[in-house]
Amino acid sequence: MLFITFEGPEGSGKTSVLAKLKEKFASEGIEITTTREPGGSVISEEIRKIILNKENTLMDPWTEVLLYIAARRQHLVEKVFPEVSSKKIIICDRFSDSTLAYQGYGRKLDINKINAIQDMAFDNFKPNLTILFNVSPEVGLQRIESRNQNENDRLDKETLEFHNLVYQGYQEIVKDNPERIKVVDASKKFDEVLNEVYQIIKQFISTSS
Ligand code: TMP
Repeated sequence: MLFITFEGPEGSGKTSVLAKLKEKFASEGIEITTTREPGGSVISEEIRKIILNKENTLMDPWTEVLLYIAARRQHLVEKVFPEVSSKKIIICDRFSDSTLAYQGYGRKLDINKINAIQDMAFDNFKPNLTILFNVSPEVGLQRIESRNQNENDRLDKETLEFHNLVYQGYQEIVKDNPERIKVVDASKKFDEVLNEVYQIIKQFISTSS
């Protein structure tokens, strides 16, 4: 199995790129399994609803961390760990770097504690490759503003300061994981971003098989 994750701030376009990428690889006979977090399994999608519900304004920051990690554990156990020795290519829209960027750096929680809980919860499981769709909060938030307001969730509604911290957090995470994380400039046009991501993944698949 190859387990690849997509990361990025709000409005980075990673979800739309993922959908197109799946089609592009399928047209070449390469099947990609796509999934997302929080979510990806029935129980994890239920947890997603609780976390992202705009009415849950009383949620404690560590409760939020633990819910993301609980959703991730369930998703891994049901959908990812059983495939470890298969030939599947799984691309997951967000993973543990999101918890570090949003809850660790964004909410200013202890990064070492979050790392320790995640290591314990997933037996040190790490993605083989991560692509960071890098886009400044100014550009990203402008993109999501044009969405239907009903589609925005509890975290979309955070302040610009929070989103700046998340953005800076991602830059720190890249510095700490230069081997695993490839950075793509997601402020570029959709087709350019799609093509760049396609090339990175294509090369990764060919060198890993
Ligand atoms: P999405 O909009 O990419 O589906 O992600 C849902 C929201 O959840 C998004 O605002 C990022 C946030 N998030 C965290 O804060 N921590 C996490 O661990 C994950 C996976 C997502």
